[in-house]
Amino acid sequence: MQNFSFYSPTFFEFGKDSETKAGELVKRFGGSKVLIHYGGGSVVRSGLLYRVKKSLEKEGIDYVELGGVKPNPRSGLVYEGIDLCKKENVDFVLAVGGGSTIDSSKAIAAGVVYNGDFWDFYMGKRIEEALPVGTILTIAAAGSEGSPDSVITKEEGMFKRGATGDAIRPKFSILNPALTQTLPPYQTAAGITDIMAHLHERYLTNTKEVEVTDRLIEALLLTMVHEGPRVIEDPNNYEARANIMWAGMMAHNNCVGVGRSQDWNSHDIEHELSALYDCAHGAGLAVTMPAVFKYVYKHDVMRFAKLAVRVWGCQMDFDNPESTALAGIACLENYLRSIGMPLSFKELGAKEEDIPKLVESLCYGNGRDGNIYGFVTLNKDDCEKIYKLMVR
Ligand code: NZQ
Ligand code: ZN
Repeated sequence: MQNFSFYSPTFFEFGKDSETKAGELVKRFGGSKVLIHYGGGSVVRSGLLYRVKKSLEKEGIDYVELGGVKPNPRSGLVYEGIDLCKKENVDFVLAVGGGSTIDSSKAIAAGVVYNGDFWDFYMGKRIEEALPVGTILTIAAAGSEGSPDSVITKEEGMFKRGATGDAIRPKFSILNPALTQTLPPYQTAAGITDIMAHLHERYLTNTKEVEVTDRLIEALLLTMVHEGPRVIEDPNNYEARANIMWAGMMAHNNCVGVGRSQDWNSHDIEHELSALYDCAHGAGLAVTMPAVFKYVYKHDVMRFAKLAVRVWGCQMDFDNPESTALAGIACLENYLRSIGMPLSFKELGAKEEDIPKLVESLCYGNGRDGNIYGFVTLNKDDCEKIYKLMVR
């Protein structure tokens, strides 16, 4: 195991009606003038935004609002949010929505206190300072409610890139699984896929002897395998949603990723798809993950075979471990198909003729050096071959 530091100070309020604590929590974490940031309207239609405002008013907390965050959030609204916060002397950013809203809130929070262009952080500068952020989560997916990360798309060039820093870890996150019951099934499934991707990208490591985190990741994957179909069959299954919601947080606050190298090639390759086609990130991952895994599994056949046996219940073939590894990848594909996810370029709405553009942006866009680095270092040719595996 590698040496590591782990700092995850987010306060979690989990369960039914927990959003009624929003005002109390903002006050506890020092907010007196709040930016309420939200997406395209689901929180207005569900009445959540109204309840949150009431909770702030009850505590005498002043607020301004900025809605309109799009899935795959854009830099334009971040600049707008930064200006608004400066003009209104906002001292706390409250995200009400999914990963996109949370990421946009984190970008605003970092940008307000930074004397430069917030995009510097998405070019690799670490975020050291930010306004405090709180979240009220409405979809189990990105894990941004417990992560130090934010992913934004820059409209000029449509570069989708991530920034990181403990300063943007939420001070608190409110997780009420019942709030996710209004999700369309496709978004629920995309969220499940994203959570499973976060687990796979940590499982694919080159670090030896990491049994504790291997076992934790396997447990979370087994939970997703069990709960995913239950929630697709019955969207009102609170208990299944509760298990998925907490698994989603644990999958990405890095408690199961410490002390080991991680992958993230599938995420990098997917981000080009959601940047170009504006597809759901999880749906893009359903197409990307199996292609990447089929391309790289020979790098460590036994790691894939172990996953196949422990998570998917495949029989280990010691004479031919490659067949076990491939059987596990096939199980993942079947699972993704069963919850309604796409598996090919065609099903996602992506086009084969765009592959050169995707590869160019992935390998050279926004300052990249021609490779992407993870479980396996992939160059331009590798990435082209991986995108081609998705055309079927
Ligand atoms: O915008 P509204 O109207 O709220 O609708 C949203 C949106 O259309 C809808 N939705 C959310 N909760 C709902 C709901 N509809 C009905 N009822 C509810 N309860 O769902 C759609 C998707 O929302 P979005 O916030 O985009 O989903 P998600 O949480 O999957 O976030 C995706 C973004 O997170 C990034 C992705 O790249 C993508 O941009 N990621 C962020 C990470 C992080 N910060 O740590 C890590 C991830 O790997 C990921 O890259
Ligand atoms: Zn993700």
